[in-house]
Amino acid sequence: MAETEFDVIVIGGGPGGYVCAIRAAQLGMKVACVEKRATLGGTCLNIGCIPSKALLQSSEKYEEARHALADHGVVVKGDVELDLGRMLARKGEVVKANVQGIEFLFKKNKVTWLKGTGRIAAPGVVEVDGTAHRTKHIVIATGSDSVDLPGVKVDEKRIVTSTGGLELDQVPGHLVVIGGGYIGLELGSVWRRLGAKVTVVEFLDRIVPTMDGEVAKHFQRILGKQGVTFRLGTKVTGARTTNEGVVLSLEPAKGGAAEEITADVVLVAIGRKPHTAGLNLDAVGVALDERGRIRTEGFATSVPGIWAIGDVIVGPMLAHKAEEEGVALAEQIAGEHPHINYDAIPGVVYTWPEVASVGATEEQLKTAGVAYRSGKFPFTANGRARAMGETDGFVKILADAATDRILGAHIIGPDAGTLIAELALAVEFSASAEDVARTSHAHPSLNEAVKEAALAVAGRPIHI
Ligand code: FAD
Ligand code: NAI
Repeated sequence: MAETEFDVIVIGGGPGGYVCAIRAAQLGMKVACVEKRATLGGTCLNIGCIPSKALLQSSEKYEEARHALADHGVVVKGDVELDLGRMLARKGEVVKANVQGIEFLFKKNKVTWLKGTGRIAAPGVVEVDGTAHRTKHIVIATGSDSVDLPGVKVDEKRIVTSTGGLELDQVPGHLVVIGGGYIGLELGSVWRRLGAKVTVVEFLDRIVPTMDGEVAKHFQRILGKQGVTFRLGTKVTGARTTNEGVVLSLEPAKGGAAEEITADVVLVAIGRKPHTAGLNLDAVGVALDERGRIRTEGFATSVPGIWAIGDVIVGPMLAHKAEEEGVALAEQIAGEHPHINYDAIPGVVYTWPEVASVGATEEQLKTAGVAYRSGKFPFTANGRARAMGETDGFVKILADAATDRILGAHIIGPDAGTLIAELALAVEFSASAEDVARTSHAHPSLNEAVKEAALAVAGRPIHI
């Protein structure tokens, strides 16, 4: 058995793992990254963030050409046609360019890619398809998988997870999405724009449970106007495939009469669970928590020399969270003292309009008994949003009543995912609402709505 000595072996080549590997190499360590997939980049680049955003972008253009251009005086003569094959091929090209980019970065930084499935034989020993590699540190960055719904068996053709939902070779007549969260609303938007009737079945009595309640209500209203039907407070108890389609049995979540609905395709998007199978964690003594996540303290697992980051540990399952952890852990192993401010990690739903947030929701502040002031500004009063013809939504900033420090910010509106960066920086710098309000914002820009919301915290917006 060949043996190579590394300083760090990272298991998993997603945003957590590949970033950790590159940062560790930058810091002078000898690093390997084990990845079983044929390409690097993990869930995010291969079957997550990147392909979903490619389809969101393409479907947005299709919808714009069909419904929005005429208002701008741009007349499309004849029918606007969908070439789904080309749209999917383009998505594939976008993914390919991104995953090849990571391979290039590995070469540039002299990170060894150990191709195959990794297993921890013992602390300090990682086996990759039977070959043992010795290392001082092991980093587990094996990510997550879709949660299964009992009674609804995924075949990735008619009953799909997000993976199959990114590959449908025709637009379904009726798409039923189970789960009104990030994936359900993003992919539901893609297929609705392309012509599907979309029904979202959500167990709770609201969508995106982690989002500020007022924003979620507004979001649901806008998606409803776009044509998405919501069945809130409803659970799916079973599915059977017939010639007519997939017949789903539904029941009110609190109990009551059952009913059936028929779908051409069902997308199961009820969350993701940590992926730890096959790593030999039990035998090595790496402890899990009650939700199957690897238990960590400062990324250290219960076994010295074995660390974990990303979707496989506690915290939001987001690529940029995994990346921050990858960098911080590499620096920690190198003896530095990094710090991650988890209150300053933004979350974005890339629908149109986009929905973005950072820090606390109004509900969280109320539960914690924190006195706060809220400032809100609608995009209907923003000149740039009017010029764009995109006036749905608002910016809401929550600041500490005593100190004016920004505790949370929530945006629903055009390019909310880009606008939130300013407020994430504000939270990171412990800025006050007044700091943002007194910063000059270019005119005419969408960011002026952020400035106005900050002014509104002090009760003095100019443009409403
Ligand atoms: P992963 O990206 O899951 O990578 C883990 C890697 O480890 C995988 O490549 C896997 O093959 C490999 N692996 C597992 N076990 C082994 C083993 N034993 N040996 C070798 N290799 C192994 N997040 C965002 O921030 N923004 C978005 O827009 C966004 N969109 C998403 C859209 C979809 C449809 C999905 C499903 C997810 C999306 N996410 C998004 C979430 C994001 O993809 C994850 O949070 C992120 O990929 C987690 O990174 P990670 O490195 O922890 O794990
Ligand atoms: P999610 O946690 O965002 O949403 C799941 C939804 O399903 C919730 O609203 C939940 O109440 C509901 N649900 C749970 N069980 C149910 C049941 N039995 N019946 C009906 N509804 C049920 O999970 P999702 O959408 O699967 O995405 C997984 C994760 O991937 C996200 O939480 C996010 O971390 C990440 N992601 C991030 C994106 C982004 O950043 N733009 C995009 C896509 C995914």
